This record gives sequence, C-alpha cells and structure tokens, in this order.
Amino acid sequence: MNNKIIILDTTLRDGEQSLKSSLNVQNKLEIAFSLERMGIDIIEAGFPISSPGEFESVKNISKNIKNSKVCALARCLEKDIDAAYESLKFSNYYRIHIFIATSPIHIKTKLKSKLSDIISLSVKMVKYAKKYTDDIEFSCEDGGRTPINDLCYIVESVIKAGANTINIPDTVGYTLPNEYSNIINKLLNNVINIDKAIISVHTHNDLGMATGNAISAIQAGARQIEGTINGLGERAGNCALEEIIMAIHTRKKILNLSTNINHNEIYYTSKIISKICNINIPINKPIVGSNVFSHSSGIHQDGVLKNKKNYEIMTPKFIGLNKSKLNLTSRSGRAAVNYRMKKMGYNKNDYNINKLYCLFLKFADKKGQVFDYDLEHLAFLNKNKMSNYFILKYFNVISISKIKSTAFIKILCGNKLKSDISIGYGPIDALYKTIKKITLLNIKIIKYKIKNQIINKKNLKKVNIVINYNNKKFYGMGLNNNILKSSIKAIINIINSIWLSKKVKKLKFK
Ligand code: KIV
Ligand code: ZN
Repeated sequence: MNNKIIILDTTLRDGEQSLKSSLNVQNKLEIAFSLERMGIDIIEAGFPISSPGEFESVKNISKNIKNSKVCALARCLEKDIDAAYESLKFSNYYRIHIFIATSPIHIKTKLKSKLSDIISLSVKMVKYAKKYTDDIEFSCEDGGRTPINDLCYIVESVIKAGANTINIPDTVGYTLPNEYSNIINKLLNNVINIDKAIISVHTHNDLGMATGNAISAIQAGARQIEGTINGLGERAGNCALEEIIMAIHTRKKILNLSTNINHNEIYYTSKIISKICNINIPINKPIVGSNVFSHSSGIHQDGVLKNKKNYEIMTPKFIGLNKSKLNLTSRSGRAAVNYRMKKMGYNKNDYNINKLYCLFLKFADKKGQVFDYDLEHLAFLNKNKMSNYFILKYFNVISISKIKSTAFIKILCGNKLKSDISIGYGPIDALYKTIKKITLLNIKIIKYKIKNQIINKKNLKKVNIVINYNNKKFYGMGLNNNILKSSIKAIINIINSIWLSKKVKKLKFK
C-alpha cells in the first residue's frame, strides 16, 4: 500500500462556513496562495452554487493556483455539479466533490427520503459529473453514523459509477478512534472494487477526537485526510491539519507514512489564516499556539537548557518558528535566570545570582511574567545602590481638537534637571517626542497597549510598550489612574533599563 498521505484542505469551504462573516474573493485567494506554498495537495476552494460571490471566488482560485489541485463541493444536483465545473474549469488540475447524507437519521428527517433512492441518485450524479472530469470524490455525509452494510453498498455503487475518492466523514464528531478505524477496515475488506478508489477521512472535533480519529483511520488504510488549518470548521471545528501533518512526521517510525507538505510554512500559514479569518489561536493550541514552544516551570526550563529534547518533541524551526522561549515566572529556577542574563550580555560576575533570584521570586509573584528589563533592573538595583537615573519631575500637555498637541516635560537625568517641549499627533505622541529629545535616545516604539486594571478597587490604566533600541527590544510598563502618566512611566521605565544595561556593560551612554 502506498505510504503517501494526500492532504485535502477545506479551510476555504468547511472552515469558512463557520466564520461569523464570510471572506471576500481577495482574502480567499490569499489563503489559497499560502496553502499552495505549504504544499497542500488539494485545496477545497468552496461550494460554488451557494452564492455568486462563492462562485467567483472558486473561479479566481482555479485561475491562480498552479501547483495544488483545486476542488469544489456539489450536492447531488445537476445544477451544483455544473456550477462546480464552470468555476473549476480554469484550473490545471481539478476535482468535483459530490456529497449526500447516508445515515438513517439524515435520510429520514433531513432529506425525507429512503436509502435506495439516495443510492440511485448518487450513482446518477457521479455518472453526470464524469462528463466533466475523471477526478470525482464522493462523500457519504454522516458516514460515521451510517450502518456499515449500507455504507459498503453505497461505496461500491458510486465507485462503479466512476468515483475514485471515497470520503467517510464523521460529520458530527461522534465516533471513537477504534470505531472509525473499524469502518475503514470493513470498507477495505468488504467492498469488492475498493482498490479502484482512495479512502478519505474527514473528521470533526465535537468530542475532541478529530486528530485521533483521522490518525487511526490512516493506520487502518485511509490515504487522504481532509481538515482545516487551525482546526477551523463547523461547531468544534474540523481536524487541524497542522496536527495531522506533525503527527505523521514526528511519529514516522510508527506510522511509516509521509506527506508532500513544506513543514517550514506551517507556522506562517496558520498565522495568516488566523489573521484573515479574525480568529485567535488559543495559546495552548497544539503545534501553533504561542505556548507550545515555551517553558515555564523551573524543572522544565532546567531540562530544556540541558537538552531541548527533554521537553520538546518537535523543533520550532521545523514549522517555521524562530526558537523556543523560556517564560520567566515564579516557577522558573536559577538556570533560567542565568540563561536570560547571559543572553542579555552579562556574565556571572556582573551580578549576584542568589540575591537576584530572591528579588526575582518576590517580583514574579506580584507581576506574573518577568521580562528582560525587569531582570536587569532587579539585578543592578541593589548592587549599584541607585534607583532610577531618569525621574519624571513635571509634565504638562495641551491637547485641543483639530490642533496638534503640545507637551512640556521636566526630567531629572542623574543630577541634572532637563526640560523640553514638543508638538505631536495627540498627547502621547507629543510626550514621547519630548522624552526622546531630552534623553537623546533614538528609540522606536513598536507596540503600545493600554488596558484597564482594577487594583484594590482602584480603576487603573496599565500601559505596556515595546521599543526597539540598537536592534534590541525593551519592554516597559506603567500603571496609574491617569493614562498620560502611565504612558510616561512605561517609557521612563524603559530608558532607565537602557541606561542601567549600558552602565553595567561599561558602555558609553549618549
Ligand atoms: O462534515 C461533512 O460531512 C462535510 C461533507 C460535506 C464532506 O463537510
Ligand atoms: Zn465537514
């Protein structure tokens, strides 16, 4: 049996169905390009009969995608199959995907029909689609809840009519892995013409079994998997292709299977799809969640620093991510603190690890995550018996509608009181320009975030900023009931960190 698994991505069809607002033609093409770059074998571009916009979108994708096969969905209706063909005919390679429900509940209460009629209609429509292409996929919707004898009969009939991919969807995410693989086994052993078709699986995640079910199905002999990026899809979603692909790769010795995927495009594709679809990726989402390659507890961090393989079964680089992260929290140990200090350019003689670790734990208990600038600050605060070099003494901002804002600030720089004034687009811009003028630091703000925070019943404004200075990122946080003061505190926090790091490293401070 061939050990290549064909990957059919249905993000643009099953995934898009679940979005609150549908994607436009340009968005869909952008997604299709990223799927093509990732090496997806078949892109299910949409359900062309469903709307003129959907038709245009499938047409646009079939005109532009060159390397992946493009596929469109059709019900067992001639007009659906015609629309699928009309939108696909521009493509280098295309597939018509016909489906009908086959489970007793769907046949009786949704289609109000009977099995024998469903089978003759399916056969008729597969034959009809044959006039357009030899590449026909047939899906038995709700296959997971279809009695196995009925399923065998339908499958044999549609293969005879010309279908060469047979998809068995677990439409409602109901089956368990061993049940699902039994279905595939029974089809392979009981359908006499099954060698003329590839068995495909399409799993939904209602019980969290989507990835497990798909993997158990390929172990039983299915050779195509359908799913979506980030697991988008109806209700709890479809199986997440990034999980399937990485399971096949990571457990190659057991599965002895492979795909045509360019693994280093996985992370980017996931990000772009999340952005275009406006659906955030949960931090613990397997493979692509932001926590997946970060380590928090002291024991794990120590283990990873000694050998990444202690706690990482995949490398972030392989999926296109830069590197793993060590989150500094109160669960971190000395090893992680030393490691971060080393990364910032300090050697162990520059600070006292025992004192630093003590301060770090207290600080982390209060703050949660500790950033590099916090660590630098804690490391040198005691040693140099100094507090901040830059201290805000006074500020005054004038901001009137339709007129640029003006900020005047006084800052104590060491023992010199300096002041200046600037004009900006709004009060915060004016303030930041003035601070840059006073400190002569060429900093570039790359992130500014403001959040309400209630502490001791006080409604405070928390400002988090990230800046770039000499190609290094610095983070600053300011907390106050006045937005402007929080914003100033956050940036003063940063310039003190820059000053401190230069002083310890004996660099000249401009
Ligand atoms: O879940 C399902 O049954 C489907 C079919 C249309 C393939 O998405
Ligand atoms: Zn589905």
